Amino acid sequence: MDAAVLPAETLRAMVEAASDGMFVTDAAFRIDWVNDAACAMLGRSPAQLVGTTIAALLDPEELARAPLRRHDLLAGRATMTTRTFVLPDGERRILEVSATRIAGDRLLGLARDVTAQRRMTAQLTQADRLASLGTLAAGVAHEINNPLTYVLLHLDALAALAGASTSPLAPEVADHAATATSGVRRVAAIVRDLRAFSRGGDDDLGPVDVHGALELALSTAGHELRHRAMVERRYREVPTVLASEGRLAQIFVNLLINAAQALPDGQPDDHRVVVATTATGGEVHVAITDTGTGIDEAHRRRIFEPFFTTRSVGVGTGLGLSICHGLVVALGGRIDVDTAPGRGSTFTVTLPAFVAATAAPPAPAPAPTAAAAARRLRLLFVDDEPAIGQVVARAFADTHEVVLAASGGDARELLARDPDFDVVVCDLVMPGIGGLQLHAWLRQAHPALAARLVFVSGGRIGDGGDAATALADQPVLDKPFTLDALEAAIAAIAVAPRR
Ligand SMILES: Nc1ncnc2c1ncn2[C@@H]1O[C@H](COP(=O)(O)OP(=O)(O)OP(=O)(O)O)[C@@H](O)[C@H]1O
Ligand SMILES: [Mg+2]
Repeated sequence: MDAAVLPAETLRAMVEAASDGMFVTDAAFRIDWVNDAACAMLGRSPAQLVGTTIAALLDPEELARAPLRRHDLLAGRATMTTRTFVLPDGERRILEVSATRIAGDRLLGLARDVTAQRRMTAQLTQADRLASLGTLAAGVAHEINNPLTYVLLHLDALAALAGASTSPLAPEVADHAATATSGVRRVAAIVRDLRAFSRGGDDDLGPVDVHGALELALSTAGHELRHRAMVERRYREVPTVLASEGRLAQIFVNLLINAAQALPDGQPDDHRVVVATTATGGEVHVAITDTGTGIDEAHRRRIFEPFFTTRSVGVGTGLGLSICHGLVVALGGRIDVDTAPGRGSTFTVTLPAFVAATAAPPAPAPAPTAAAAARRLRLLFVDDEPAIGQVVARAFADTHEVVLAASGGDARELLARDPDFDVVVCDLVMPGIGGLQLHAWLRQAHPALAARLVFVSGGRIGDGGDAATALADQPVLDKPFTLDALEAAIAAIAVAPRR
């Protein structure tokens, strides 16, 4: 046997054993022959493929954007392209195809399935982008919170001045202050949303109001929904669930976006997305219903699989529902789907209702007595944003003695000399010595005062592992806060039992 020439059977066996898909077409890309691997990739038998053109197997949208070109091939130049093929059940596979001209005008294509890699790369890119967006959002939220806090405090003080004034201008000043305050509160709400999302995957579980998380999700998905459906809320009174608001909102955003994607663009009056909450037997149900395409039986069985998607590449990764499913199960719940093609779908998230620990609940903090509330307290206010401390000191000038420190280091020095304070109010995140470090030092140096510390937080960036312990013991006042909220927090902790 000539070593350079293989017998025909050996050649055929090689081709059949190859893991790459192979096909031979005529110059118009009509298939003459395929191997087993190509049939498996395309989900069709040889009989279904032979005689079919490659174009008929491709994603039509992609084909319209990038038509098949034969010029290079016929001129004898090999080409390499990546194409999306549609299987009979609607699934999309991405194949990398290298094509070359063989005998006469016939073309040989070698195809490799790169669907998993492509989707993985897309997902990693998206995860990366989301992570940097999260960091950016948290940073922006933190930066905005400080000025927001003192603007709000000044408006508060202005309203109080107007209230106490007999000037004929007082009502008008009060009116301006009230309008400006409502604007600031809107900015504060946006900042809160940004923070909830940037904390998306954390494990900070606590009782969460599902309606709050739904509203957060609705405002995030609002852009997708607006042009496609009227959103209808059917909220019943339901208990809280043990979750994190960011995580819950992430689940609802995924479901709302899927609902929007099941609806045509531009007919918002003809379609509805209904968001309904109910509670039964210790469980909370959140149902998101759309009047969209629905899902047929074959797809319904697979929608929770990672990477299962019927959308074209770049539009969906097929991870939304699998992530939702994972998050919901981790919270001890489940997701059910009720759907019919042409009628629409309902995705129901069921979560156990939150039950407060039964073991000896901590005695409720005594309500601040009139005496305590009225007592003149000596406060140490620690914040690296001087404008916040200044407005607090001015507002409390008649009621309390306020000493300011502009950093954790300053506060520590001051306290080492003079620990005679009733309450310490301390920003959580500051350059150098932060709130948690100051608290840890106080616990060693002046434990009684450590128990009378109130944290203020403008977005808890960079909380370490022991953050949860310190935060669980001490109250945290979120920025921006009002003077009333600060006064209430101070009054409550000033009468707290001294540990
Ligand atoms: N409300 C719905 N109506 C109709 N089909 C849906 C609905 N929700 C999900 N599906 C189907 O389930 C598939 C998987 O959904 P999933 O959210 O996991 O991924 P995706 O939406 O395709 O992509 P991604 O969420 O990663 O952007 C979708 O491609 C779609 O076919
Ligand atoms: Mg999705």
